[in-house]
Amino acid sequence: MARPFVCVRALATVLLLGIATVSGSMGLRGQEHRGTSRIPSQFSAEERFTMKEALKDAIKIPTVSFGPEEFNTTALAEFGEFIYKAFPTLFKTSFIQHEVVGEYSHLFTVQGSDPSLQPYLLTAHIDVVPAPAEGWEVPPFSGLERDGFIHGRGTLDNKNSVMAILQALELLVTRNYVPRRSFFIALGHDEEVSGKYGAQKISALLQARGVQLAFIMDECGFVLDGFFPSLKKPFAMVSVSEKGALNLKLQVNMTPGHSSAPPKETSIGILAAAISRLEQTSLPNMFGDGPLKKTMQLLANEFPFPTNVVLSNLWLFRPLVSRLLERNYITNAFIRTTTAVTMFNAGIKINVIPPVAEATINFRIHPAQTVQEVIDLVKNIMADDRVQFHVLSAFDPLPISPSDDQAFGYQLLRQTIQSVFPEVNIVAPGTCIGNTDSRHYTNLTTDIYRFNPLYLQPQDFSSIHGLNEKISVQAYETQVKFMFELIQNADTELSQVPHLHEL
Ligand SMILES: *[C@@H]1O[C@H](CO)[C@@H](O)[C@H](O)[C@H]1NC(C)=O
Ligand SMILES: *[C@@H]1O[C@H](CO)[C@@H](O)[C@H](O)[C@H]1NC(C)=O
Ligand SMILES: [Zn+2]
Repeated sequence: MARPFVCVRALATVLLLGIATVSGSMGLRGQEHRGTSRIPSQFSAEERFTMKEALKDAIKIPTVSFGPEEFNTTALAEFGEFIYKAFPTLFKTSFIQHEVVGEYSHLFTVQGSDPSLQPYLLTAHIDVVPAPAEGWEVPPFSGLERDGFIHGRGTLDNKNSVMAILQALELLVTRNYVPRRSFFIALGHDEEVSGKYGAQKISALLQARGVQLAFIMDECGFVLDGFFPSLKKPFAMVSVSEKGALNLKLQVNMTPGHSSAPPKETSIGILAAAISRLEQTSLPNMFGDGPLKKTMQLLANEFPFPTNVVLSNLWLFRPLVSRLLERNYITNAFIRTTTAVTMFNAGIKINVIPPVAEATINFRIHPAQTVQEVIDLVKNIMADDRVQFHVLSAFDPLPISPSDDQAFGYQLLRQTIQSVFPEVNIVAPGTCIGNTDSRHYTNLTTDIYRFNPLYLQPQDFSSIHGLNEKISVQAYETQVKFMFELIQNADTELSQVPHLHEL
């Protein structure tokens, strides 16, 4: 996940995004009709040893994105050689094509035996955010195993996914599995700083080839465990949307002069007043638009009285609930476009009237708003023509992907979650309040699902982009198993079966 907002995202997830039901389920069928037997996701002791060692080796390569144009290209190149050695069978398989894109990103095309089936795409990213060693229990690029955990930067975000996807495919082809449905594996190398050299180029390549995808699976979403005290069981959250972003630079220019005879207002005062108005005026509360309202309604019955009654009757309690959600800065991030003043620069000398005052503001845009709407609102709130606006960068929120009975990718994930995590019976659509590489792929499909097949507990959240990021060996094995199952499930036909759990 990009940007250091993961803990926020996670917590918010926790507080809010709950629980969906599993109404209307599709069953997985098809293998038996083709006479192909399903390959059980059981791995030998040797395979399990090899897979965890491969993850450790991946962590040891410091593929850090330091800034938008600043990468450890030595490490990125090394990573390319590393996967070649770690997954030898995959690279030798005739129906798998490998391409390097944008110098350090990787695209695998797995040609399925049935060209009538629409392909899908699994994506993950190779790069990590920096990890200065101070504060870590073990060095962040050591990949050390301790007490059943593999430690290091990238163990949760997101080399676990890079490695689990390739590992699952390696194990499948080692067992002579030939997929029916084609799929792509896209491994970007600059997700943490934009994705413009990796994911964006891969997407352009696929678009040029006329590819349309059944769905995409990306990061951002987990099996959440221990977040609601009143909830006995963990639940899975699959993010179906993602916030947009706008970075605005504000500038006020004035004629410089001597401070002994100052004008009534300076550039600093004008800009500060405008920014203060912006901070005092929250952008609109959008609770009720976007996936959250549905999710809250689905969540209702999982809570004890009176929360269940309140959430079941949002026609009446919506204003109350939306006000409550505003009170906590994390849940607040889910219901509106957020405003964060991140930089302010002005002044050159102690006795000179400042010619220029500048500030940058980072907005995270709610799925029900657009960049242009936010710019218009901000201009109205500032209400001062002397403040000039420059858009440094911006993108709209991502469309909300379907999560109904007919949504193939969502149902495929749901079914795979239920088979790999049998104790989880709740799968919920959610919103990702950070950003992923997904936004570069929106021309290829309307169905984008963000889910890491991993348990996540509250304390794990802060480790992502923070200190002591780690994954248990068992959790990693489960992630490999999940991908191993998912690839096979994608080759089956989803068909209506009786509902498992009704709301
Ligand atoms: C870049 O990666 C290489 C290994 O591939 C490592 O030796 C080097 O220290 C890294 N550079 C920085 C600045 O982290
Ligand atoms: C999507 O396609 C349009 C039209 O070809 C193009 O202008 C746009 O850049 C594409 N967007 C992405 C994210 O690839
Ligand atoms: Zn990530």
